[in-house]
Amino acid sequence: MKQQVRKAIFPVAGLGTRFLPATKAQPKEMLPVVDKPLIQYAVEEAYAAGIREMIFVTGRHKRPIEDHFDMAYELEHQMEEAGKHEMLKVVRSVKPDDMECVFVRQPKSLGLGHAVLCGEKLARGEPFAVLLADDLMVGEPPVLKQMVEVFNEWRASVLAVQEVPEEHTKRYGIVAGSLVNDSLMEVTAIVEKPAPEKAPSRWGVAGRYILTPGVFDEIRNQPKGVGGEIQLTDGIAGLMRREKVFAFKYKGKRYDCGSKEGFLEANVELALTHPQLGEWFRGYLKSLNV
Ligand code: G1P
Repeated sequence: MKQQVRKAIFPVAGLGTRFLPATKAQPKEMLPVVDKPLIQYAVEEAYAAGIREMIFVTGRHKRPIEDHFDMAYELEHQMEEAGKHEMLKVVRSVKPDDMECVFVRQPKSLGLGHAVLCGEKLARGEPFAVLLADDLMVGEPPVLKQMVEVFNEWRASVLAVQEVPEEHTKRYGIVAGSLVNDSLMEVTAIVEKPAPEKAPSRWGVAGRYILTPGVFDEIRNQPKGVGGEIQLTDGIAGLMRREKVFAFKYKGKRYDCGSKEGFLEANVELALTHPQLGEWFRGYLKSLNV
């Protein structure tokens, strides 16, 4: 695989039932953490990793995501007239000029593997990243950038992993493998959401992947997996039999914003480090005396 990682797939067709009623008429990816929607954190992470083509796999009710990454003509015009230049900069920074956004629909919720497969034509045979916006990653350098560096060195698929508590193996794709160095493992097994007694390790896949295009055929050829869905994990298990796949222990923190607990943690911790709000928020939390 000589090519660079230039494209990212964002599967954003999920229903977000865990956040009802907030997500009744609004995509879960548009829920804000402090002052930015979840999807924007993921897109900014991809951009920081050098990626310029963002492929959104959307579904019904996901128009707000398209609008968010489009020009807000009336808003920008008004701000310009009113001389609100700082605000205008914030609005325009959502989509830098050299970033391209493309949208493809996933007609039915058939699973994460199927969502990724919907991006096949747009990936055009190149290696690509997959970012799950539910997983908000904070790292320096940004987690996907760390992974692109690993990809550039090894020229093979890279999965972000973190150690998870034994009782949580059922929430993740779990990998096993042989250590290449302190932060890298060559994957020899990957299982979707195993029970603790069946889990091959406690290394859980976080929602960041760099994949070679060979994975598309593998996804297509897998039978339905856990939950009757076409699983990305099963496609990766197939790929692993043909090519090397690495698991990378990233440096950084993951907030599981698919759960209310993780979402609240992200809001609190990101507010504490926010350049304008941080100091005030720290004082406020102290004043609560809880
Ligand atoms: C998905 C993947 C799983 C991965 C997880 C990371 O599961 O299927 O392998 O570990 O994302 O967040 P989901 O959380 O969509 O159920």
